[in-house]
Amino acid sequence: MSAAMDFTRRLRSVSDKDLPRLREHFLEPAEAFDPATSADHLFFPLEMTWYYGEPIWHELSEPQRLLLNRLSFCQSYYSTAVAEAATNVLNYEAALRTLIDGDPEVALYMAREVVEETTHIEAFLLVIRKLLGHHGIRLDQLRAANASLGMACWYAIAHSLLGWLRRDLDYYYFTRFALNVNQKTVERCAIDEPRMHPLVRTLLKNHAIDEARHMQMSRATGIAALARMRSPWAKRIACWAFAHFAASVFIGRHRRDGRLTRETRIRTLELCGVPRPRAERAYAEWRGRVNQPVDPPLVHAGRKYYWKQIVAYIDALDVSERTRASMKRIVRRAYHDAAAPEHVDGVHALEFDELRR
Ligand SMILES: [Fe+2]
Ligand SMILES: [Fe+2]
Repeated sequence: MSAAMDFTRRLRSVSDKDLPRLREHFLEPAEAFDPATSADHLFFPLEMTWYYGEPIWHELSEPQRLLLNRLSFCQSYYSTAVAEAATNVLNYEAALRTLIDGDPEVALYMAREVVEETTHIEAFLLVIRKLLGHHGIRLDQLRAANASLGMACWYAIAHSLLGWLRRDLDYYYFTRFALNVNQKTVERCAIDEPRMHPLVRTLLKNHAIDEARHMQMSRATGIAALARMRSPWAKRIACWAFAHFAASVFIGRHRRDGRLTRETRIRTLELCGVPRPRAERAYAEWRGRVNQPVDPPLVHAGRKYYWKQIVAYIDALDVSERTRASMKRIVRRAYHDAAAPEHVDGVHALEFDELRR
């Protein structure tokens, strides 16, 4: 365990340097954020705003479009806060187990991520509450519109149960990588959005830097966990489960879309003042690619980025070529649009530089 997890020492030394500045990086910008300064600033990448470019988008007034952009931010970051609370449950379970029979130094880094995520959650909640208040919307209304939130409980329960059965949280870190990549794609596009509110940009940039480290933890732990699995069957099941999970995580429109996503998108449009029947029709047209068969360029390039990262991860795993090919096939079925080579559709995957404080 110890040698394979040595990378956590490096991650912890980076975190040690950031720790005294957690308040400065997260709570201070969130506290300083004044929604009255929102003017026509955006809070979410314009092209990733739900329904962007659709007929309903053009039917909305400019203030309604701004509201839809801000609600896309609130829904996305409230979901992030809830997902981070779920990961904290699992991070601490991993720390607990590692303290009992693993390397205590590794356990301390696992617990450290809990401290960081707790501050992230507090900062996001502060900004979301202020922004919603500015638009006369209650947090309860936002949560009632977000039908997907409960999924985070099931994620925590399923991995806790699996962790209890297997006596480790390896499967959790394995799936967490896909969530990290998806979140990074949206967040980096938000940071690069020219009209982004400057204080929120600062907050998101600080978050992206912490999350880049959390992603390294997921990636390296997943690779080490798979290499540790002795039974070929356990390995095969882990790879199959990871591929299906990675295929179900997405931005924009996706082959595997479900009731919870549909409800969240429809109810959020209703919060902008769109009557339910029109919101349902708008969703069906958007989802069915009736008016925009091809995604807006940023969404397309973002989906390509996700696909490339997942393929690179699969390539780094200690598995047979056959398993590798089958994993890619599973993800490709859901990401058929993103898996097309760049010379075929002319779209390049997003590229991100390393962020620095
Ligand atoms: Fe976070
Ligand atoms: Fe994180």
